[in-house]
Amino acid sequence: MAWKITPLLCLLVCVAAVGAARPGTQLLNVCMNARYHKEKPGPEDKLHGQCSPWKKNACCFVNTSIEAHKDISSLYRFDWDHCGKMEPACKRHFIQDTCLYECSPNLGPWIREVNQSWRKERILNVPLCKEDCQSWWEDCRTSYTCKSNWHRGWDWTSGYNQCPVKAACHRFDFYFPTPAALCNEIWSHSYKASNYSRGSGRCIQMWFDPILDNPNEEVARFYAEKSGAFPMSWLFTSGGLSIGTSALATLLPINIQG
Ligand SMILES: *[C@@H]1O[C@H](CO)[C@@H](O)[C@H](O)[C@H]1NC(C)=O
Ligand SMILES: *[C@@H]1O[C@H](CO)[C@@H](O)[C@H](O)[C@H]1NC(C)=O
Ligand SMILES: *[C@@H]1O[C@H](CO)[C@@H](O)[C@H](O)[C@H]1NC(C)=O
Repeated sequence: MAWKITPLLCLLVCVAAVGAARPGTQLLNVCMNARYHKEKPGPEDKLHGQCSPWKKNACCFVNTSIEAHKDISSLYRFDWDHCGKMEPACKRHFIQDTCLYECSPNLGPWIREVNQSWRKERILNVPLCKEDCQSWWEDCRTSYTCKSNWHRGWDWTSGYNQCPVKAACHRFDFYFPTPAALCNEIWSHSYKASNYSRGSGRCIQMWFDPILDNPNEEVARFYAEKSGAFPMSWLFTSGGLSIGTSALATLLPINIQG
Protein backbone atom coordinates (compact mmCIF):
# COMPACT_ATOMS: atom_id res chain seq x y z
CA MET A 1 0.00 0.00 0.00
CA ALA A 2 1.20 3.45 -0.80
CA TRP A 3 2.47 5.32 2.21
CA LYS A 4 0.17 8.17 3.08
CA ILE A 5 -0.32 10.05 6.27
CA THR A 6 -4.02 9.75 6.80
CA PRO A 7 -5.79 11.87 9.38
CA LEU A 8 -6.21 8.71 11.44
CA LEU A 9 -2.52 7.97 11.42
CA CYS A 10 -1.71 11.59 12.08
CA LEU A 11 -3.91 11.36 15.13
CA LEU A 12 -1.97 8.32 16.32
CA VAL A 13 1.37 9.92 15.69
CA CYS A 14 0.41 13.18 17.30
CA VAL A 15 -0.96 11.43 20.36
CA ALA A 16 2.25 9.43 20.50
CA ALA A 17 4.41 12.53 20.34
CA VAL A 18 2.49 14.44 22.98
CA GLY A 19 1.67 11.55 25.28
CA ALA A 20 5.18 10.22 25.65
CA ALA A 21 6.68 10.79 29.04
CA ARG A 22 10.05 11.43 27.47
CA PRO A 23 9.36 12.65 23.99
CA GLY A 24 11.98 11.51 21.53
CA THR A 25 13.55 8.98 23.83
CA GLN A 26 12.82 5.45 24.81
CA LEU A 27 11.16 4.29 27.99
CA LEU A 28 12.78 0.89 28.42
CA ASN A 29 16.28 0.08 29.58
CA VAL A 30 17.27 3.70 30.20
CA CYS A 31 19.02 5.80 32.81
CA MET A 32 17.71 9.16 33.92
CA ASN A 33 19.79 12.25 33.38
CA ALA A 34 20.72 12.99 36.98
CA ARG A 35 23.80 13.58 39.07
CA TYR A 36 25.46 10.15 39.19
CA HIS A 37 23.65 8.06 36.62
CA LYS A 38 25.49 6.41 33.78
CA GLU A 39 24.48 7.49 30.32
CA LYS A 40 23.28 4.00 29.48
CA PRO A 41 22.69 0.90 31.58
CA GLY A 42 25.15 -1.98 31.44
CA PRO A 43 26.77 -4.71 33.52
CA GLU A 44 28.60 -3.76 36.73
CA ASP A 45 29.97 -7.01 38.15
CA LYS A 46 31.17 -5.55 41.44
CA LEU A 47 28.13 -3.62 42.61
CA HIS A 48 28.26 -3.35 46.38
CA GLY A 49 26.00 -4.91 49.02
CA GLN A 50 22.35 -4.08 48.68
CA CYS A 51 22.88 -2.69 45.17
CA SER A 52 24.21 -6.04 43.90
CA PRO A 53 20.84 -7.24 42.51
CA TRP A 54 21.34 -4.76 39.64
CA LYS A 55 24.81 -5.96 38.65
CA LYS A 56 23.70 -7.59 35.39
CA ASN A 57 22.36 -4.28 34.14
CA ALA A 58 22.71 -1.06 36.10
CA CYS A 59 22.60 2.71 35.80
CA CYS A 60 25.02 3.13 38.73
CA PHE A 61 28.79 2.84 38.85
CA VAL A 62 30.45 0.67 41.52
CA ASN A 63 31.62 3.76 43.43
CA THR A 64 28.02 5.00 43.64
CA SER A 65 26.88 1.64 45.01
CA ILE A 66 29.56 1.82 47.71
CA GLU A 67 28.65 5.38 48.66
CA ALA A 68 24.97 4.41 48.85
CA HIS A 69 25.77 2.37 51.97
CA LYS A 70 27.54 5.17 53.89
CA ASP A 71 26.23 7.67 56.41
CA ILE A 72 26.45 11.25 55.11
CA SER A 73 27.82 9.78 51.89
CA SER A 74 29.55 11.84 49.24
CA LEU A 75 26.48 11.35 47.04
CA TYR A 76 24.12 13.82 48.70
CA ARG A 77 25.68 14.46 52.14
CA PHE A 78 22.40 13.24 53.63
CA ASP A 79 22.30 12.43 57.34
CA TRP A 80 19.81 9.63 58.06
CA ASP A 81 20.47 10.22 61.78
CA HIS A 82 19.14 13.80 61.84
CA CYS A 83 16.97 13.02 64.90
CA GLY A 84 19.26 10.58 66.64
CA LYS A 85 20.35 7.19 65.44
CA MET A 86 18.15 5.65 62.78
CA GLU A 87 17.48 1.98 63.51
CA PRO A 88 19.59 -0.29 61.27
CA ALA A 89 16.43 -2.19 60.24
CA CYS A 90 15.06 1.14 59.01
CA LYS A 91 18.26 2.37 57.41
CA ARG A 92 18.53 -0.67 55.15
CA HIS A 93 15.33 0.48 53.42
CA PHE A 94 16.88 3.87 52.70
CA ILE A 95 19.97 2.15 51.31
CA GLN A 96 17.73 0.00 49.12
CA ASP A 97 15.79 3.07 48.03
CA THR A 98 19.09 4.73 47.05
CA CYS A 99 20.17 1.61 45.13
CA LEU A 100 16.88 1.52 43.22
CA TYR A 101 17.09 5.23 42.41
CA GLU A 102 20.73 5.14 41.30
CA CYS A 103 20.90 1.70 39.67
CA SER A 104 17.55 0.75 38.18
CA PRO A 105 17.28 0.80 34.37
CA ASN A 106 13.53 0.17 34.66
CA LEU A 107 12.19 3.56 35.72
CA GLY A 108 11.78 5.01 32.24
CA PRO A 109 7.98 5.24 32.26
CA TRP A 110 8.18 7.52 35.32
CA ILE A 111 11.05 9.79 34.33
CA ARG A 112 10.13 13.45 34.02
CA GLU A 113 12.16 16.48 33.07
CA VAL A 114 12.97 18.93 35.84
CA ASN A 115 14.80 22.19 36.02
CA GLN A 116 17.14 21.62 38.95
CA SER A 117 20.78 22.55 39.28
CA TRP A 118 21.80 19.00 40.13
CA ARG A 119 19.67 16.99 37.75
CA LYS A 120 17.71 17.34 34.54
CA GLU A 121 15.33 14.45 35.21
CA ARG A 122 13.56 12.90 38.18
CA ILE A 123 11.13 10.03 38.77
CA LEU A 124 7.48 10.69 39.53
CA ASN A 125 4.80 8.32 40.89
CA VAL A 126 6.75 5.07 40.51
CA PRO A 127 4.23 2.42 41.67
CA LEU A 128 6.05 0.85 44.60
CA CYS A 129 4.86 -2.63 45.56
CA LYS A 130 2.58 -2.71 48.58
CA GLU A 131 4.79 -4.98 50.67
CA ASP A 132 7.94 -2.97 50.01
CA CYS A 133 6.21 0.18 51.19
CA GLN A 134 4.62 -1.57 54.16
CA SER A 135 7.86 -3.10 55.46
CA TRP A 136 9.73 0.19 54.96
CA TRP A 137 7.14 1.91 57.15
CA GLU A 138 7.00 -0.84 59.76
CA ASP A 139 10.77 -1.01 60.13
CA CYS A 140 11.01 2.78 60.39
CA ARG A 141 8.04 3.71 62.53
CA THR A 142 10.07 3.68 65.74
CA SER A 143 12.90 5.77 64.31
CA TYR A 144 12.76 9.58 64.50
CA THR A 145 12.57 12.39 61.99
CA CYS A 146 11.51 16.04 61.84
CA LYS A 147 10.01 16.33 58.37
CA SER A 148 7.68 14.54 55.98
CA ASN A 149 9.31 15.87 52.80
CA TRP A 150 12.99 15.02 52.83
CA HIS A 151 13.73 16.77 49.54
CA ARG A 152 13.13 20.29 50.79
CA GLY A 153 13.47 22.63 53.73
CA TRP A 154 16.60 21.36 55.48
CA ASP A 155 19.24 23.50 57.09
CA TRP A 156 22.36 22.70 55.04
CA THR A 157 24.72 25.26 56.67
CA SER A 158 26.83 22.53 58.30
CA GLY A 159 27.37 20.75 54.98
CA TYR A 160 24.80 18.07 55.68
CA ASN A 161 21.10 18.23 56.39
CA GLN A 162 19.94 19.28 59.83
CA CYS A 163 16.42 19.85 61.07
CA PRO A 164 15.22 23.42 60.53
CA VAL A 165 14.52 25.25 63.80
CA LYS A 166 10.76 24.91 63.67
CA ALA A 167 10.74 21.20 62.86
CA ALA A 168 10.57 19.02 65.96
CA CYS A 169 11.77 15.44 66.08
CA HIS A 170 8.98 12.90 66.39
CA ARG A 171 8.59 9.25 65.64
CA PHE A 172 8.22 8.38 61.95
CA ASP A 173 4.57 7.51 62.41
CA PHE A 174 3.88 11.08 63.55
CA TYR A 175 5.10 12.50 60.24
CA PHE A 176 4.06 9.45 58.19
CA PRO A 177 0.81 8.04 59.65
CA THR A 178 0.54 5.31 57.02
CA PRO A 179 2.85 3.37 54.69
CA ALA A 180 1.44 5.31 51.75
CA ALA A 181 2.19 8.61 53.47
CA LEU A 182 5.82 7.56 53.84
CA CYS A 183 6.31 6.28 50.29
CA ASN A 184 4.43 9.11 48.59
CA GLU A 185 5.56 12.10 50.60
CA ILE A 186 9.16 11.49 51.58
CA TRP A 187 10.67 12.16 48.14
CA SER A 188 7.94 14.49 46.82
CA HIS A 189 5.95 11.77 45.06
CA SER A 190 8.85 9.97 43.44
CA TYR A 191 6.91 6.92 44.58
CA LYS A 192 3.21 6.23 44.63
CA ALA A 193 2.26 3.43 47.00
CA SER A 194 0.71 0.73 44.84
CA ASN A 195 -2.09 -1.65 45.70
CA TYR A 196 -0.33 -4.31 43.65
CA SER A 197 1.79 -6.96 45.31
CA ARG A 198 5.32 -8.11 44.71
CA GLY A 199 5.39 -10.59 41.82
CA SER A 200 2.28 -9.14 40.18
CA GLY A 201 4.23 -7.60 37.33
CA ARG A 202 2.33 -4.38 37.98
CA CYS A 203 4.48 -2.68 40.63
CA ILE A 204 8.16 -1.85 41.06
CA GLN A 205 10.06 -3.86 43.67
CA MET A 206 12.70 -2.08 45.70
CA TRP A 207 13.96 -5.47 46.83
CA PHE A 208 14.55 -8.55 44.69
CA ASP A 209 16.63 -11.68 44.85
CA PRO A 210 19.94 -11.18 43.00
CA ILE A 211 19.91 -14.73 41.68
CA LEU A 212 16.58 -14.18 39.97
CA ASP A 213 16.02 -11.98 36.97
CA ASN A 214 15.08 -8.37 37.63
CA PRO A 215 11.28 -8.43 38.09
CA ASN A 216 11.00 -4.74 37.24
CA GLU A 217 11.78 -5.27 33.56
CA GLU A 218 8.34 -6.72 32.95
CA VAL A 219 6.75 -3.94 35.00
CA ALA A 220 8.42 -1.21 32.95
CA ARG A 221 7.34 -2.94 29.75
CA PHE A 222 3.76 -3.08 30.93
CA TYR A 223 3.57 0.59 31.85
CA ALA A 224 5.52 1.73 28.80
CA GLU A 225 2.87 0.20 26.57
CA LYS A 226 -0.04 1.21 28.73
CA SER A 227 0.66 4.84 29.58
CA GLY A 228 2.79 4.71 26.82
CA ALA A 229 3.08 6.40 24.07
CA PHE A 230 0.83 4.57 21.73
CA PRO A 231 -1.72 1.77 21.57
CA MET A 232 0.65 -0.81 20.17
CA SER A 233 -1.67 -3.78 19.84
CA TRP A 234 -4.26 -1.74 18.03
CA LEU A 235 -1.71 -0.29 15.65
CA PHE A 236 -0.47 -3.66 14.58
CA THR A 237 -3.75 -5.52 14.41
CA SER A 238 -6.05 -2.93 12.94
CA GLY A 239 -7.19 -4.08 9.53
CA GLY A 240 -7.49 -0.61 8.07
CA LEU A 241 -3.82 0.17 8.49
CA SER A 242 -1.22 -2.11 7.07
CA ILE A 243 1.91 -0.42 8.14
CA GLY A 244 5.41 -1.78 7.80
CA THR A 245 7.18 -1.84 11.12
CA SER A 246 10.25 -0.16 9.75
CA ALA A 247 8.26 2.62 8.17
CA LEU A 248 6.47 3.14 11.43
CA ALA A 249 9.70 3.12 13.37
CA THR A 250 11.08 5.80 11.10
CA LEU A 251 8.04 7.92 11.46
CA LEU A 252 7.31 7.67 15.15
CA PRO A 253 9.45 9.86 17.38
CA ILE A 254 9.88 7.04 19.84
CA ASN A 255 11.57 3.71 19.84
CA ILE A 256 9.57 0.60 19.37
CA GLN A 257 10.62 -2.10 21.73
CA GLY A 258 10.28 -5.82 21.57
C1 LIG B 1 32.27 7.40 40.15
O1 LIG B 1 33.13 7.26 39.07
C2 LIG B 1 32.67 7.92 37.88
C3 LIG B 1 33.54 7.49 36.72
O2 LIG B 1 34.88 7.33 37.08
C4 LIG B 1 32.66 9.41 38.14
O3 LIG B 1 32.25 10.11 36.99
C5 LIG B 1 31.67 9.67 39.30
O4 LIG B 1 31.65 11.05 39.62
C6 LIG B 1 32.03 8.85 40.51
N1 LIG B 1 30.92 8.92 41.45
C7 LIG B 1 31.08 9.14 42.73
C8 LIG B 1 29.86 9.05 43.55
O5 LIG B 1 32.16 9.40 43.24
C1 LIG C 1 15.40 26.80 34.47
O1 LIG C 1 15.41 27.78 35.49
C2 LIG C 1 16.31 28.84 35.21
C3 LIG C 1 16.36 29.72 36.45
O2 LIG C 1 15.08 29.92 36.98
C4 LIG C 1 15.85 29.59 33.96
O3 LIG C 1 16.75 30.65 33.70
C5 LIG C 1 15.82 28.61 32.79
O4 LIG C 1 15.33 29.25 31.65
C6 LIG C 1 14.97 27.41 33.13
N1 LIG C 1 15.10 26.43 32.07
C7 LIG C 1 14.06 25.74 31.59
C8 LIG C 1 14.36 24.74 30.55
O5 LIG C 1 12.93 25.89 32.01
C1 LIG D 1 -6.32 -0.04 47.48
O1 LIG D 1 -7.29 -0.97 47.88
C2 LIG D 1 -8.01 -0.57 49.02
C3 LIG D 1 -8.89 -1.71 49.48
O2 LIG D 1 -9.44 -2.41 48.39
C4 LIG D 1 -8.80 0.70 48.69
O3 LIG D 1 -9.54 1.12 49.81
C5 LIG D 1 -7.83 1.77 48.29
O4 LIG D 1 -8.51 2.93 47.89
C6 LIG D 1 -6.96 1.29 47.15
N1 LIG D 1 -5.93 2.28 46.94
C7 LIG D 1 -5.54 2.66 45.73
C8 LIG D 1 -4.42 3.65 45.69
O5 LIG D 1 -6.04 2.25 44.72
